[in-house]
Amino acid sequence: MSYENIIIRKENNIATVSLNRPKSLNALNSELVAELDRAFDELSADSETRVVVITGEKNFAAGADITNMVELTPEEARDFAFSDTYDKIANCPKPVIAAIEGFALGGGMELALSCDFRIAAPNAKMGFPEITLGIFPGAGGTQRLPRLVGLPKAKRLIFTGAIIRGEEALACGLVDGLADNPLEETMSFALELAAKPAVALKLAKECINLAADADIKTGIAYEASNWARLFATSDQKEGMRAFIEKRKPEFAGK
Ligand code: HXC
Repeated sequence: MSYENIIIRKENNIATVSLNRPKSLNALNSELVAELDRAFDELSADSETRVVVITGEKNFAAGADITNMVELTPEEARDFAFSDTYDKIANCPKPVIAAIEGFALGGGMELALSCDFRIAAPNAKMGFPEITLGIFPGAGGTQRLPRLVGLPKAKRLIFTGAIIRGEEALACGLVDGLADNPLEETMSFALELAAKPAVALKLAKECINLAADADIKTGIAYEASNWARLFATSDQKEGMRAFIEKRKPEFAGK
């Protein structure tokens, strides 16, 4: 499949999706987001891909493209919002990691929040400047940010539009790791995840995502059901037999 606003590279069972509008600091226009949507359909179904990395050279993304939004009516704004695509990324059946250099702002930060992990450069600049444009984050930011950093910190970031750097982002839980070369660090983490049993990762992700929304009784029932399903996989047999035979498991992803 061909893409004009993103570049996809596949190596070692890892698909790297690079946002590719460098002249506008990877500002997210509708075309780019439509391509991301298509890419995640493709990568979710691709048996060779076990982990997805989202990145952008020099910058992650400086937010939704403001030139696309300025004259929108409320009805058009509803259609412009990226939430369906970002939900698709959040529910991708494979681990998704954001490697962040430069700016990750607004809709760019919300894209990173849809990923399972965020690894940033210490001098990355992250935040939600929407308030300075007379709006607030509208692609999951008001919901995903408080779940990561707590209500007061989320309100502080969204109400003030403050842009923060790596150390502060790490301290409040906005990112999970800092690295001078975030893509390199992300790739080594992705390789580690690519060697894990894929079905167990997928079903664990479903359970953990549900933990943010469901009451504990519902969550534990869901966990019990997903956990039992693993005993139909060859990776479960392989993992346990390898332990008993004192060897390293070789997971087939089935
Ligand atoms: C459109 C953008 C853009 C954006 C940067 N550019 N961000 N174009 N939409 N979000 C363009 C600039 O217009 C400029 O184009 C080029 O990228 C380089 O940017 P500069 O401003 O010259 O760079 P710099 O001085 O380094 O400042 C970088 C910056 C600034 C601080 C990131 O560009 C900025 O404030 N951008 C807007 C950030 C923002 O408000 N993001 C949230 C958007 S709202 P030219 O043609 O002049 O070279 C949002 C809502 C999401 O994301 C809701 C879901 C749909």
